[in-house]
Amino acid sequence: PIQTLTTIDDARTFVARARAEGKRVALVPTMGALHAGHLELVRVAHQHADVVIASVFVNPLQFGPHEDLDRYPRMPKADTEQLIVLGVEAVFMPSVEEMYPDGGRSATLVTAGRLGTVLEGRSRPGHYDGVLTVVAKLFSIVRPDVAVFGEKDAQQLFLVRRMVRDLNLPLTIVGVPTVREADGLALSSRNALLSPGERQDALALSRALEAAGSAADRGVEAMLAAAQSVFQSDTGVQLDYLAIVDPATFAFAGESHHGPVQVLVAARVGTGSSNTVRLIDNLITVVP
Ligand code: PAJ
Repeated sequence: PIQTLTTIDDARTFVARARAEGKRVALVPTMGALHAGHLELVRVAHQHADVVIASVFVNPLQFGPHEDLDRYPRMPKADTEQLIVLGVEAVFMPSVEEMYPDGGRSATLVTAGRLGTVLEGRSRPGHYDGVLTVVAKLFSIVRPDVAVFGEKDAQQLFLVRRMVRDLNLPLTIVGVPTVREADGLALSSRNALLSPGERQDALALSRALEAAGSAADRGVEAMLAAAQSVFQSDTGVQLDYLAIVDPATFAFAGESHHGPVQVLVAARVGTGSSNTVRLIDNLITVVP
């Protein structure tokens, strides 16, 4: 039977019991609308711990004023059903008031610093401060031995690892490769917001990454050009950014760069200004 925990006190009590029994605890933080990508994180979490807690919380702090906080899909019942099937021991589903009793805000923030202001952070000011703040709160509430994150959100994973190192947080971060549909589309809760036509258009992201990957032996500039050309021929998609970074530092990789690289892409799918869906994807490869 799964334990549904809605208060911070109940979550702390649940974990205290597990720890008293000598069990290792893993946390899988999510915003719900669970899909096979999230479920893969849970599966990996079970490989690292005796007890797995998933959190389902749509964190208002990481959404900008014109972003899709209100539109973000919420389906706590279906999420719980999926977590039961996977044998998750507990799900932490707090209310906004429980997490942010001061009117949905937090006076104290964990800031991501300069790397929180580039790429995804440049398009979404304050986003990573919101992410790191809620992740730090979840770590403090649950005190997991291990927390599992997806590589799909590459910059998020990088910044969470950085926070754990910078603040000496006593846990291990495990990253899980991106789970994709058969046609290459990275699974995302936001895919549920796409019309069938937009769902087709959204393939531009994974196709661009594939094109970049195929050009890897011709260097960084050739990879960018190859990825760029996918967006030039595709009208239903508006490219936000396309970049290649060194996965060790998240610094931009120049033409002389050799070794591991991470190709990052963000784009808007759909027409109009309020109904577009913003998607991200990335690929790790090597420039020989
Ligand atoms: P959310 O978008 O729900 O994602 C929760 C976790 O699932 C993240 O670690 C994300 O990288 C991972 N994930 C999403 N799609 C994936 C896919 N296709 N393959 C593998 N993993 C995937 O990311 C967040 O929520 C929030 O920012 C959060 C960390 C919970 C803080 O609020």
